[in-house]
Amino acid sequence: MDKFVIRGGNPLIGTIRVSGAKNSALPCMAAAILTEDEVTLENIPQVRDIETERRLLASMGAEVELGYGRAQHRTTISCRTLSDPEAKYEIVKTMRASSLVLGPLVARAGMARVAMPGGCAIGGRPIDLHIKGLEKMGATITQEHGYLEARASRLKGAHLVFDKITVTGTEDLLMAAVLAEGETLMENCAREPEVTDLAALLVAMGARIDGAGTSTMRIQGVTSLHGARYRINPDRIEAGTFLVAGAITRGDLIVANCNPSHLSAIIAKLEEAGARIDILSSDSVRVRADGALKAADISTEEYPGFPTDMQAQYMALATQAEGVSMVKENIFENRFMHVQELVRMGANIKVDGRSATVRGSARLSAAAVMCSDLRASASLVLAALVADGESILDRVYHMDRGYERIEEKLRGVGAQIRRMGNVFASRQDPVEAD
Ligand code: UD1
Repeated sequence: MDKFVIRGGNPLIGTIRVSGAKNSALPCMAAAILTEDEVTLENIPQVRDIETERRLLASMGAEVELGYGRAQHRTTISCRTLSDPEAKYEIVKTMRASSLVLGPLVARAGMARVAMPGGCAIGGRPIDLHIKGLEKMGATITQEHGYLEARASRLKGAHLVFDKITVTGTEDLLMAAVLAEGETLMENCAREPEVTDLAALLVAMGARIDGAGTSTMRIQGVTSLHGARYRINPDRIEAGTFLVAGAITRGDLIVANCNPSHLSAIIAKLEEAGARIDILSSDSVRVRADGALKAADISTEEYPGFPTDMQAQYMALATQAEGVSMVKENIFENRFMHVQELVRMGANIKVDGRSATVRGSARLSAAAVMCSDLRASASLVLAALVADGESILDRVYHMDRGYERIEEKLRGVGAQIRRMGNVFASRQDPVEAD
């Protein structure tokens, strides 16, 4: 099992490049199910979840080329034949976003068998809203032997109002609606940039969608979609993680190939915490922190609020700020797995339900720590970058799910970090996802 060995104390200085957004790439790859033609996606991140999605699509009979090069990371997917419209448990259990194939499979093949994902490290993570939406669109859904089976000869447009804002739920039902008969009105939709990315791909494939990026979307169903070529947006969570890395190490970092307009909540909070942020261009942001960091509270919200996927990383920063920061997690019920490991490194954090009180100015000391999920791993890397001595992070396969060669990128800007073992060599089943 791979480990990271990190010696803290170096300020990060230089330019670090952000990869494509994993959470855009996953639904966009699933969208290829909706057409018999080829879909080509550029700026695909080289992370384990993408490999899992490739395996998932291939297991259904799709042809998936996935190539990574210096100039381009690209996948071309052909779902001309879908011999087996099923997402097997072996794959779903390693990546919850596998449930994104549910809507497109029913829309294209008239049926889908998808393993129920079960709980995960950060909370219950039900998919009841996906199911409810498909039922409203006329699908018959049964559940047996841990699998969900959905059938509909052709889905029908419907008025869907999400009880709760769900990112993959919005994406799943959007993909179902584009091939449904008639109009679908979706209210209380997720407004995340990843939803907008997916909608842009679907429009390039011939879908008719109004309102992407707002809470109300209106979709006119079409009878078929065609192939397209689409470039995935940069990963805003990776960019945010690097901004925190620059600030926590008191560095001077240019985060390149990002989209600053997707980072507003993160930038505002880092500024409140005393970091100096300059938006240098439409795709780069500079972060500096030469003075003291100050405590600032966060409360996670749906986009455009402060993302839950940045909560753990922000908490690492809060341990280094002067004063007391309150961290409120509103999206997931159990997303404080990183706390106990940060405390083992010397952080002073108390959790009470969905809130954590972080008393700052902690002197972190290196320790052997365990990564429990994707963003928790990122927070431990950040803490290790400022801890006194050499930390060893175990189970970095969680990190590899969503961060492309993070150790190489961080080393390029002065971090002392090395991997013990080979990237992607371990064959663990990470049972969690975001
Ligand atoms: C997506 C992101 C993940 C991020 C999360 C919240 C992907 C692949 N993952 O996950 O990185 O942390 O959004 O921004 O894009 N819920 C229900 N019923 C449902 C669906 C969701 O109750 O049918 C609840 C969840 O338990 C959670 C909340 O809604 O409390 C938000 O979850 P959701 O937005 O669906 O998260 P994901 O789409 O799984």
